[in-house]
Amino acid sequence: MVSRVIPVDPFDLVIFGGTGDLARRKILPGLFRRFCAGQMPQDAQIIGAARSDLDAAGFRDLVADAIAEFGGKTLAECGELPAFLDRLDYVTIDARGDDGWAELKTKMRKGVVAAYYFSVGPGLFGDIAKRLNSWGIADKNSRIVVEKPFGRDLASAQDLNASLAAEFDETQIYRIDHYLGKETVQNLMAIRFGNLLFEPLWNAQYIDHIQISVAESVGVGGRGAYYDKSGAMRDMVQNHLMQLLCLIAMEPPSKFDPDAVRDEKLKVIRALQPVAPHEIVRGQYGGNDGPSYRDDAGDPRSFTESYVALKTQIANWRWSGVPFYLRTGKRLKARTSEIAVVFKPLPHSIFDDVGEGGQNVLAIQLQPNEGITLDVTIKEPGPGGMRLAHVPLDMTFAETLGDEAEEAPDAYERLIMDVIRGNQTLFMRGDEVEAAWAWTDPIIDGWRDRHDVPKIYDAGSTGPEDALALLHRDGRRWRDLSV
Ligand code: BG6
Repeated sequence: MVSRVIPVDPFDLVIFGGTGDLARRKILPGLFRRFCAGQMPQDAQIIGAARSDLDAAGFRDLVADAIAEFGGKTLAECGELPAFLDRLDYVTIDARGDDGWAELKTKMRKGVVAAYYFSVGPGLFGDIAKRLNSWGIADKNSRIVVEKPFGRDLASAQDLNASLAAEFDETQIYRIDHYLGKETVQNLMAIRFGNLLFEPLWNAQYIDHIQISVAESVGVGGRGAYYDKSGAMRDMVQNHLMQLLCLIAMEPPSKFDPDAVRDEKLKVIRALQPVAPHEIVRGQYGGNDGPSYRDDAGDPRSFTESYVALKTQIANWRWSGVPFYLRTGKRLKARTSEIAVVFKPLPHSIFDDVGEGGQNVLAIQLQPNEGITLDVTIKEPGPGGMRLAHVPLDMTFAETLGDEAEEAPDAYERLIMDVIRGNQTLFMRGDEVEAAWAWTDPIIDGWRDRHDVPKIYDAGSTGPEDALALLHRDGRRWRDLSV
């Protein structure tokens, strides 16, 4: 397969919080990768904007260090670093004051795409949006990019949406959920809507249940202070897992267009059933193998969850009666994320020896090994008679697509290029985010009102025992969390 890199139009990208963690780890190394891949125009301009008192040379040093630390192997091999650093500039700016804005204005060019990445806490979104307009820097063609967390509940998300809407039109706002930029997540749409095979089976008549697992082996580490105010429900379920669920469950949009796709996702979120207390399990990792969650959070009495497993349903014709089981957690056995579509058992088998677990399963692996498997039943090879075996038809992208998969941009790279291209399909619309909070809030409020205490689970395990029971009592089991 021939790799196709389509260069984007000339652009000025301003990164507010340009010296921060996300910028250093993801955004700037990602931009450098796109530069090496030839996707970024030679005259692109990237302006760091932050409180730190730096000049352009100081910012270039910081970015060179970030690329050395977080850039990975491919980046070290790309000889373009000096040319890339040349594209960088810097403004010391006060998001809540007057300093730096006039200078930023002079640096922005006319006639190129202007994008403003708010890589800062949500508390500053409104301040920056307002100043971009009041200083006459942005116009109706400018784009703004905002990061999660987009609020911590419905009310705060509504406030954020209102403060952005006061300055920018929804078509200018790009809310990032980096899961939507993952290669396999987009493949999910290609598989569903680019093949005739699956759509006729994609409903309650043929699908037994769906499992979405996002397991991490790392703990909250140095992010304890942020995470402890958030927890797995806000940090992962409300956004990443719900987005995955939407892509699996949505109706086929009439076209692959931002609003057509997002309209369908919104309908899914609105049709999600409330989760009863016995259908959700919260956990917190213990200190059996290193620091416990409470050590990491710096609070010996923290009740914040580092794990959630839940069962939900979608109240519409397609999915009536089909459980969706979601789980995510930190310090689990492995870093592995997958969506498994488990089909119903055969209505009748003509074979005596059907073996175990003979249901067809379509498993979409997000990480670490991106790919798709379809478990099918075949005859066991050899002379042993008509014995059946269940084997995966395996399409691991790295094997099937070779270099193409290796060189695929990571989620951030892809999403930033989409911002420059002006394509909002893989970004969350304001109403989607609010609907997701409207579903999440009662769950979190319920925990608070009931003084719910998370179950402690062993670090390196698959999570709390109670999460197993969530499926056992429905006669089902979680898939292995293996790499
Ligand atoms: C982030 C969460 O959004 O996603 C983190 O805040 C989490 O807590 C991360 O670790 C997981 O992303 P990925 O791409 O490594 O699966």
